[in-house]
Amino acid sequence: MGPGHIDVGGTVADLAATLEDLLAVESFDPPAGFTRRRPVDADRAAADADPQAFWADAARELLTWDKPFTQVLDDTKAPFYTWFADGELNLSANCLDRHVAAGRGERVAFHWRGEEGERRDVTYADLLADTQRLANGLSALGVRAGDVVGIFLPMIPEVAVAMLACARIGAVHNVVFGGFAPSAVRERMEVSDAKVLITVDGARRKGRRAPVKAAVDAELGELPALEHIVVVRGPGENPGEVPMTPGRDVWFDELLAGADPDCPAIPLPAEHPLFILYSSGSTAKPKGILHSTAGYLLGATYTHRMVFDIDPDTDVYWCSADVGWITGHSYIVYGPLSNGATSVMYEGAPDYPDHDIWWRIVEEYRVTVFYTAPTAIRSCIKWGAEYPGRHDLSSLRVLGTVGEPINPKAWLWYHLVIGGGRCPIVDTWWQTETGSVLISPLAGVTPTRPGSATKPLPGISPALLSEDGEPVTEGTGILVITKPWPSMLRTLYKDDDRFVETYFSRFGPTTYVVGDAARLDADGYFWIIGRIDDVINVSGHRLSTAEVESAIVAHEAVAEAAVVAEPDEQTGQAIVAFVTLTGNRAGDAATEAELREHVARRIGKLARPRRIIWADDLPKTRSGKIMRRLLRDVAAGRELGDVTTLRDPAVMAVITEAVRAAHDDE
Ligand code: WT7
Repeated sequence: MGPGHIDVGGTVADLAATLEDLLAVESFDPPAGFTRRRPVDADRAAADADPQAFWADAARELLTWDKPFTQVLDDTKAPFYTWFADGELNLSANCLDRHVAAGRGERVAFHWRGEEGERRDVTYADLLADTQRLANGLSALGVRAGDVVGIFLPMIPEVAVAMLACARIGAVHNVVFGGFAPSAVRERMEVSDAKVLITVDGARRKGRRAPVKAAVDAELGELPALEHIVVVRGPGENPGEVPMTPGRDVWFDELLAGADPDCPAIPLPAEHPLFILYSSGSTAKPKGILHSTAGYLLGATYTHRMVFDIDPDTDVYWCSADVGWITGHSYIVYGPLSNGATSVMYEGAPDYPDHDIWWRIVEEYRVTVFYTAPTAIRSCIKWGAEYPGRHDLSSLRVLGTVGEPINPKAWLWYHLVIGGGRCPIVDTWWQTETGSVLISPLAGVTPTRPGSATKPLPGISPALLSEDGEPVTEGTGILVITKPWPSMLRTLYKDDDRFVETYFSRFGPTTYVVGDAARLDADGYFWIIGRIDDVINVSGHRLSTAEVESAIVAHEAVAEAAVVAEPDEQTGQAIVAFVTLTGNRAGDAATEAELREHVARRIGKLARPRRIIWADDLPKTRSGKIMRRLLRDVAAGRELGDVTTLRDPAVMAVITEAVRAAHDDE
């Protein structure tokens, strides 16, 4: 029985047996019945021969320009690279107008599915109409090219309209993930000097409703730059009063109704800033990753069609991420719309009203390409194969994952239970900074190895370096990208120094340091190991240990805190906080609950520590630096590393005991 001819019928025991067999298979050829539609060999050859010429050809072929470019890459001010700098185009025209002009206005852009089962099909013509009105509405509110507009919305079509309307007039959007706390919204609006914030009256999650506008108002206080708040009437009933400040706040629907329906797309320079997206780094201050227009759109467009082998005429594509993350920006909004594809946009959670909701949606819309995260697959495994088993998933042809390394068992389950053994799996490696996928199989072309993101895409040059910068051709090393690519971040918003320091100081201005360690095998396959900075990956979401620590120590009962990751079967990594309380206060369950809630309020629920370990003292060097390395060892249940530099070696014995006791309590 070869890969691609796997019988997944039968009982769960049969499935388990098949999984066992397959865990021994190292490499999977593209499934025999899979027919690739988009040839790619010529791209690989062209990119290998001359990456700049390859990207220039792709930019001419895939994007519609108002003014063609003559320059391609400018690397004279490395690491501040520019691409296609003398060209002009409008991103919203590339995502909307060109499809409508080609007679595809009635094509569905988003099959929106609400949490309570509502359906709304939004066509390209609908999106264009709303985008023009909102663009005019924003202009009427005083938004000009280069101004920052914050977006804090749930998964509703208006989030795409808001982003596209900004792009249409050259405003820079700054989307904040809907799961973040209002205080995180405040911080991000403040540091980016946002002029307008687009948010929603209230949100709903698994049948519960919560006010959003009122909660945001309560946190915002005085932000001198923020002139207006635009409020979308979200789906479902609104919980309670929506406070509207006259002169500052306007309803989204009223703004659209009062706006001129025509807003011609203005040509913008290729390097015009498109968006900021804040992401966690190794300090408590989030990094404002800045992307520019043409290069970013080229990366999103090219990779969306080539990695997933998208045919916009026939595919129904679904990415289950939230628009608040880079995955949503590139692979729910910009890539799919630029390619003129039809997507599903789902508002809700995977386990509401029942654990089969995703598979019900796949069946209903005949989804062909599905893109999700390993942590979601592991949840599905926990819930059981009977949920996907209730539905006809035969429409699926390509499956993707992103966010963290996928463990082989989850990969195989996805392959067998969801893909029926027919669908190539693309394990896509990339980052907020890279803008689009850099290392990934090409569906149906690259032989896959469960747990490996396989090989770089055409035009991308990753490499591994040792600690002292020597190339590693086989084995583990520090992952770097040695040549610029069009969709790379341009800088950190208003912080060029931190941009250079974070990504281009270790090995010089032409070597982008990713922040991940990886292994390269003898066949040139990349295996991502994980972060090498103080960033924790919880369910594919990046969190900074420093940010969580500073939230914890902001609590009046806390003297000191150190945050590390522990391995977690479900979420990949989980947060463990070692906390010293002030005075003689003893740690108890009530304080633990209070601290977790405190972190949720300051950052968001996903930053809540899984476990809090009370410690009278933390392991420190003689100069007073907390040795997180030792805490990571304890949290992971490993042998402790070198403790000789500790000021008080006895501290570790106490902490090890406390961790053991915490595990025993479970
Ligand atoms: C970090 C980037 C890109 C969208 C989601 C997260 C990890 C991402 C993979 C993968 C192993 C992965 C890396 C990376 N990561 N994809 N396929 N295999 N690790 O974006 O928040 O910017 O995080 O996520 O550690 O550096 P992000």
